[in-house]
Amino acid sequence: MTPNTDRPKARSGLKTLAGLIPFLSPYRRRIFAAGIALVIAASATLAIPYGFRQLIDLGFTTADTQKAAQVNVYFLALFAVACVLAASTAARFYLVSWLGERVTADIRSAVYAHVLRQSPEFFEVTQTGEVLSRLTTDTTLIQTVVGTSISMALRNVLLLIGGLLMMFITSIKLSFIIVVMLLAIILPIVMIGRRVRKLSRASQDRIADASGLASERMNAIAVVQAFAHEVHEARQFGNAVERAFGTAIDRVRARSILTVTAILLVFGAIVFVLWLGAHAVMEGRMSAGELGQFILYSAIVSGAIGALSETLGDAQRAAGASERLLELLAERSPIASPEHPQSLPARAANGSRLELEHLNFHYPSRPDQPSLADLSLDIAPGETVAIVGPSGAGKTTLFQLLLRFYDLQTGNIRLDGVDIRSLKLQDLRNAIGIVPQDTVVFSANAMENIRYGRPEATDAEVIDAAKLAAAHEFIERLPEGYQSFLGERGVRLSGGQRQRIAIARALLKNPPLLLLDEATSALDAESERLVQRALEAAMVGRTTLVIAHRLATVQRATRIVVMEQGRIVETGTHASLVEAGGLYAQLAALQFNTH
Ligand SMILES: Nc1ncnc2c1ncn2[C@@H]1O[C@H](COP(=O)(O)OP(=O)(O)O)[C@@H](O)[C@H]1O
Ligand SMILES: [Mg+2]
Repeated sequence: MTPNTDRPKARSGLKTLAGLIPFLSPYRRRIFAAGIALVIAASATLAIPYGFRQLIDLGFTTADTQKAAQVNVYFLALFAVACVLAASTAARFYLVSWLGERVTADIRSAVYAHVLRQSPEFFEVTQTGEVLSRLTTDTTLIQTVVGTSISMALRNVLLLIGGLLMMFITSIKLSFIIVVMLLAIILPIVMIGRRVRKLSRASQDRIADASGLASERMNAIAVVQAFAHEVHEARQFGNAVERAFGTAIDRVRARSILTVTAILLVFGAIVFVLWLGAHAVMEGRMSAGELGQFILYSAIVSGAIGALSETLGDAQRAAGASERLLELLAERSPIASPEHPQSLPARAANGSRLELEHLNFHYPSRPDQPSLADLSLDIAPGETVAIVGPSGAGKTTLFQLLLRFYDLQTGNIRLDGVDIRSLKLQDLRNAIGIVPQDTVVFSANAMENIRYGRPEATDAEVIDAAKLAAAHEFIERLPEGYQSFLGERGVRLSGGQRQRIAIARALLKNPPLLLLDEATSALDAESERLVQRALEAAMVGRTTLVIAHRLATVQRATRIVVMEQGRIVETGTHASLVEAGGLYAQLAALQFNTH
C-alpha cells in the first residue's frame, strides 16, 4: 500500500467520532426516543437497591400480619420495577440497534458514492481492495459503536452518576472514601485506553493491506498462475495476515491489561470500603438494610465503571475506524464540476468543434516529465482526425485530458467554444463517447454490457449498435445469445470480441465527439475489416479522434496528426506526409506497429 502522506491529519481520539454526527442527525427523533428509554431503564435499575433496603430492614422473621402485607406490597413494587426495566431495556436495544444498522448503511453508501467520484489521481495512490476493506470492516466497527457502545456508555454514565448519588445519600463517609480511591484508579485506565485506540487503527490498517494485496493479485490470477507464483503469493498474503494478527494481539493484550487493572482496582477499593461498612453495622452505626443498599449501589457503580472502560475500548477502536472512513470522505477530488457551470450549445448536425490551445501537461506523479508539451490543434465539426505516433507519445494522455480526468497545467481545451473546465463534468462526459485502449467488460450479460452506453436504450437499439460494431454475429452464437453472461471483466470473451462490445457501447451512446483509442488493435484481419466499416458508418455526423496504428484507419481520416514526446511533429494527409519523408513515413513503412 502506498500511504498518502499528503492527507490532512484527521482529529485524533474520541473527538473523531464527532464526525459521525452528520450521519446521526437525520434520526433525531429516534435518538430522542432511545434516550428516554435509556433514562427510564437506568432509573428502574437504580430503584432496585432502595427496594431491597426496605425489605431487609423490615425483616423477614416476624409473624406481624401488617408487616406481611407491607412485604407483599414491596415485592409487588419490585416486580413492577422489573417490568419497567425489561420493557425500557428492550425498547432501548431495538432503537439503538436500528440506529447502528441505519447509520452503517448510510456511511457505506456515502463512502462508495464518494469514492466513485474521485479522479484517477486518487486511484493511482489508493488500492481498491483497501477501500473495500474500509467499507466492510471499518463500517462494522462503527456499527458496534453507534448500535451498542454509545447507548452502553450513556447507560453506564447514568448508572454511575445515579449510583454515586445514592451511595452518598446512604453513607457520606464510606462514599467519600470510595470516590477518592476511584479517582486514583481512572487515570491509568484512561492511559491504557489511549494505547488501545492507536493499536486498533494499526490493526485495521494491516487488514486493509492484506485485502488490497489479495484483490490486486486475484484480478491478475492468470498472470500469477502463468508464472507459477501461487505459493509465493499465498506466502505474501500469509505474511500480511500474520502482521494483522500480530497487531491485533497487541491490541488484545493492551485491552486485557485494561480489564485486569480496572477490575482489580475497582473491586479492591469496594471490598475495602465494605469491610469498613461491616464494622459500622457491627458497631450499630449503620443498619443492615443501609449496608445492603450501599453494597448494591457500589456494585452498580463498579459495574458501570467496568462497562465504561470496556466501551471506551470499543469506542476507541471505532474512533480509529471512523478516522479512516472520514479521511476517505474528506478526500476532495481535484476534478469537480464548477459551481456555476456553463452549458453546451445545442448539438450541431455534424458533431462538436474542438479547440486545443497550447496544452502543457504532466501527470501529478511525474512533475518532471511533461506528457504533453505546447500542443495546439483545431478540429472542425464532423472531422475525422487520426493521431499516430510511437508508444508513449502522449496519445492516450490527450484523450484523458479531453475527458477531464486530469486538469492541464497550462493551456485551454474548448468544446464547441466552451472551456471544458466551466462545464458540468457530467455534461462534458455525456458529449464524449470513448472506446478505451484497455476495454472493460463488466460481469453481466452482453445486452447489459452494451446498454451501459445508454441505460434507457431499448433491446432493439442495443442490437442495432451491436450490428454496427460487428458484434451481433458472435453474440448470437454465444450459448444464450444476448443473455449470455460474459464473466468477470469479460473473461469469457476474446480480446477482439471485448473490443467490439466496447465499440457497440460507444456507438449506442451516440455522442457528438467520439474518441477511439486503438479501437481495432485487438481485432484479427477479418473482424477489423468489419469493424472498420462499422466505424466509418459511426463517424458520420460526429467529430472523431482516432488513435490509429493501422494504415487502413489512417488513410480514411481527413487529417493525420503525428505526435512524438507530447508534441505534434507533423500534420497532413497520408500522401503529403509520406512525401515529406518524416516520422510518419517511417511509421507507415513499419505499418504503424506501435501502441
Ligand atoms: N497515470 C500516469 N501517471 C504517470 N505517467 C503516466 C501515466 N499514464 C501515462 N504516463 C506517461 O505519459 C506518457 C504518455 O503516455 P500515453 O499517453 O499513455 O502514451 P501513448 O501515446 O502510448 O498512448 C508516457 O511517458 C507514460 O509513461
Ligand atoms: Mg496509448
